[in-house]
Amino acid sequence: MAVGIFDSGLGGLTVLDAVQKHLPEMEFLYYADSAHAPYGVRDAEDIYQLTKSAVEDLWSRGCDLVILACNTASAAALRRMQEAGVPKGKRVLGVFVPLIEALTERQWGDNSPPREVAVKTVALFATPATVASRAFQRELAFRAIGVDVEAQACGGVVDAIEDGDMILAEALVRSHVEALKRKMPHPDAAILGCTHYPLLQQVFQDALGPEVAVYSQASLVADSLAHYLGRHPNMQGDGAGGFLTTGDPKRVSDRAAQFLRRQITFSKA
Ligand code: DGL
Repeated sequence: MAVGIFDSGLGGLTVLDAVQKHLPEMEFLYYADSAHAPYGVRDAEDIYQLTKSAVEDLWSRGCDLVILACNTASAAALRRMQEAGVPKGKRVLGVFVPLIEALTERQWGDNSPPREVAVKTVALFATPATVASRAFQRELAFRAIGVDVEAQACGGVVDAIEDGDMILAEALVRSHVEALKRKMPHPDAAILGCTHYPLLQQVFQDALGPEVAVYSQASLVADSLAHYLGRHPNMQGDGAGGFLTTGDPKRVSDRAAQFLRRQITFSKA
């Protein structure tokens, strides 16, 4: 029995880690499309095709439920995949909604009209493709009014993380935060809208200052998934858990161990 967790690379491990702490009995099949990462510089069609093929692979390996632990894939592919129709008994879910529910203080499944919320100014840090999609602003507008969102496309950060160059990644984060602050000097909250970014959460927080509430997805998605599986216990699938990559398994395993500080062994997808 395994739930599929998909990302373009290592970022989804931040979600997997939180989900495993929340649901220690549950098995997960993690799929990193490392050969095609980063997704954030690709066009929407490309991201859709890559995401679709990875999700279909996870379904075929016995996962009934696949979580897109990747904002870029969620932004560019999720709605299109859902609208095209998924095979009977299979589901694919993204990572935007739990984050927006937390920001707008909504309960799971609250479909009431949009209303004013406490947070008025939000800095969104995400990949170029996620920013270009405006998917975050769209989902937010369904739930809240009067929220000013300033988005910063954080070019280069995912590449640096995938290459294990954390010094470069940190420098890029600081410069993207500075660029954001020139457009919005005092945001109430900041959204880390890419699952790679929690690996640098402290760098974002330090650069933004202690008064800015930084929202990251890992624990929010873990809560939502636990709720979802509580209500849909039949969605746990019948496949085996593990770690798959389209890239070089040894290289990806080494990087993953560096980030999660435990031994992780990827196999070739
Ligand atoms: N972790 C992915 C996300 O949440 C990174 C996308 C990329 O590969 O650029 O957006």
